Amino acid sequence: MAYSPETQAIRLQTRRTAEMEHSTPLFLTSSFVYHSAEEMASAFTDDSLDINIYSRFSNPTVDEFVTKVCALEGAEDGVATGTGMAAVFSTFMTFLSQGDHILSASAVFGSTHTILTKYLPKWGIESTYFDMTRPETIEALVRPNTKMLYLETPSNPGLDIIDLALVGDICQRHGILFVVDNCFATPAVQQPIRFGADLVIHSATKFMDGQGRVLGGVVVGRKDLIHELYLMVRNTGPSLSPFNAWVLSKSLETLFLRMDKHAENALHLAQALENNPHVSHVKYPFLPTHAQYDIAVRQMKNGGGIVAFELKGGLEAGQRFLNALQMISMTNNLGDSRTIASHPSSTTHSKLSEADRLAVGITPGLVRISVGLEGVVDIVQDVEQALERS
Ligand SMILES: Cc1ncc(COP(=O)(O)O)c(C=O)c1O
Repeated sequence: MAYSPETQAIRLQTRRTAEMEHSTPLFLTSSFVYHSAEEMASAFTDDSLDINIYSRFSNPTVDEFVTKVCALEGAEDGVATGTGMAAVFSTFMTFLSQGDHILSASAVFGSTHTILTKYLPKWGIESTYFDMTRPETIEALVRPNTKMLYLETPSNPGLDIIDLALVGDICQRHGILFVVDNCFATPAVQQPIRFGADLVIHSATKFMDGQGRVLGGVVVGRKDLIHELYLMVRNTGPSLSPFNAWVLSKSLETLFLRMDKHAENALHLAQALENNPHVSHVKYPFLPTHAQYDIAVRQMKNGGGIVAFELKGGLEAGQRFLNALQMISMTNNLGDSRTIASHPSSTTHSKLSEADRLAVGITPGLVRISVGLEGVVDIVQDVEQALERS
């Protein structure tokens, strides 16, 4: 009988060495040795992963991390990368060719937007944005050369939600690869493969690490697709460092516990902000006022750890708010045990035009809080006192 995901996140481990260690070992090595010249020669005869050759290709610690993510996402196989953006870019480069078209949600992470609009056109790959809040418009945007549909749900930073099953159905009918960036939810909250996604991408830098220490990325999904992606990563080199993989694998042991607590604190903060006189609008997937609340409760276990809100005083109020925070950190990361506040329009999404930002709900006064694991009373108190002074 297969263990539950909570148990697999803890118990899946590289085979114990002769030292009989309890915690998982770290294979901090660039390359691997062979028993004989014949074994060395056979290691190069195919592209299989059966023999470790070199850590750009495979490494037991990296494999352990990937195996765990596959178990949690319900995926057949996976590949790890040095960052989340390396995972996104490698996926685009593996499956898109000159003359292809990608349909993407307009509400995607800033650097993903930059790849779509600045770099993919250099290789003759076209992209079109769709509005996540109007899924009924997607099908009309499919072209004969559409190869991939890409989205994040919840989106960064606007926390829009889309019905994954509905999009999965469109992709299946049109033979399009369905790729989901599941970074905001994590597999402890939502498993897109259950709703038809072919590939699931993570910036492991965020909730998977959970303590703001290392960068990492991972893509999991169908075995045939992952093999293609593996060959691309193995040859072009955006591989994950074994040390970072070790940190990430240890972190996954507490992912379920952490995500439950992040979500509990986030819901509490969102509810407290709903009646705050300085706030015009609060967005959190599990607030009944969220426009896609019904979809969120259907496909997510909880609302996740991110809350977004709009300050009545706009840009200046946003900056006064950040400057007035006493405990909460002003930094651009998210998914940390420490609560973090950021101002997307002047930071992560500043490369977008004002019009593009507004189109995806990034208004000048929008503040994003990555709600941490501190005592929720302290989190709410710090936000409320900063709002008083905003
Ligand atoms: C939704 C999402 N995808 C991808 C990334 C990129 O990840 P990384 O910073 O690990 O390259 C981020 C980073 O914030 C993100 O929020």
